[in-house]
Amino acid sequence: MPIEMVDRPLPSVLGESRRIGGAVDDLFSFFLPVPADGRARLYEAMRHAAIGGGKRLRPLLTVAAARLFGIDEGRAVRAGTAIEAIHVYSLIHDDLPCMDDDDLRRGKPTVHKAFDEATAVLAGDCFHDLAFEIMADPATHEDPFVRCELLMGLAKASGLEGMGGGQMLDLAAEGQALDVSAITRMQQLKTGALIEFAVEAACIMGRLPDESRTHCRGYARNIGLAFQIADDLIDHDGNEEAAGKRVGKDAGAGKATFVSLLGRDRARQQAEFLVTQAIEHLASHGEEADLLRAIARYITERDR
Ligand code: IPE
Ligand code: IPE
Ligand code: MG
Ligand code: MG
Ligand code: MG
Repeated sequence: MPIEMVDRPLPSVLGESRRIGGAVDDLFSFFLPVPADGRARLYEAMRHAAIGGGKRLRPLLTVAAARLFGIDEGRAVRAGTAIEAIHVYSLIHDDLPCMDDDDLRRGKPTVHKAFDEATAVLAGDCFHDLAFEIMADPATHEDPFVRCELLMGLAKASGLEGMGGGQMLDLAAEGQALDVSAITRMQQLKTGALIEFAVEAACIMGRLPDESRTHCRGYARNIGLAFQIADDLIDHDGNEEAAGKRVGKDAGAGKATFVSLLGRDRARQQAEFLVTQAIEHLASHGEEADLLRAIARYITERDR
């Protein structure tokens, strides 16, 4: 159903993000009890990065998509937390001096500033591994075939065909003039792939046949791109305090973004168009898709 035909209030994304964020914090706390040995510093660094911060968009998307298929919310939170672990690893490494060289993340010093570079590299590595540990656990899904598909999807969304490959394209594009299709491909890999997988994970857990996933994939593809355009707009126009990270860095580093290519106004129009398209993909669903609709709307309205 198109959003203008929805006459009921949509769920509060901020409220749901707080609620799911609490459950994600609990899981990370469970997996990261600080030991009384030489690894304590690594655990502390991982807790610093992962607990009590971020919008938790990826777990929220898995929970919201899980509502379409009647999947247990606790299991959706586990799958979403595995995806969040990959995301946290990507942020720790993205902030390193050899990448974007940032000192502020989620309103706190970045891991290499609060700790040191070697600890930050290891914290990122161990989040990568923790992601697979959480996803592979039978508590995430009882069916080993489902778990195997979840693991395959997580690996692909994180690696060469996803976030890691996209980060390489992002670095390679510094100072280059990319066209719309090259920027779209870079964004789709570096940010889109993991966001798309957050929705796909619910389809996998619901054992949906491939041909029944088309509308979810259309939704996820559109919001994934809109999300990175909104991130680039925050870097261009945003406020550091609200964003919890430094702004104005992309232009300084000569990053190729939709904003550098199209300018701020056309980039915003493009993001809003993508959000409208995303919501249209949910037309066959009723109230059970309202959280997904609200998340799509939130993506271009956010300031952090
Ligand atoms: C920031 O991601 C990095 C990108 C992939 C654009 P988020 O905006 O989801 O960061 P948190 O998780 O809320 O901190
Ligand atoms: C990072 O994109 C995407 C990741 C895979 C981490 P950015 O470099 O634009 O993210 P921010 O702005 O530092 O959060
Ligand atoms: Mg970056
Ligand atoms: Mg960055
Ligand atoms: Mg950015």
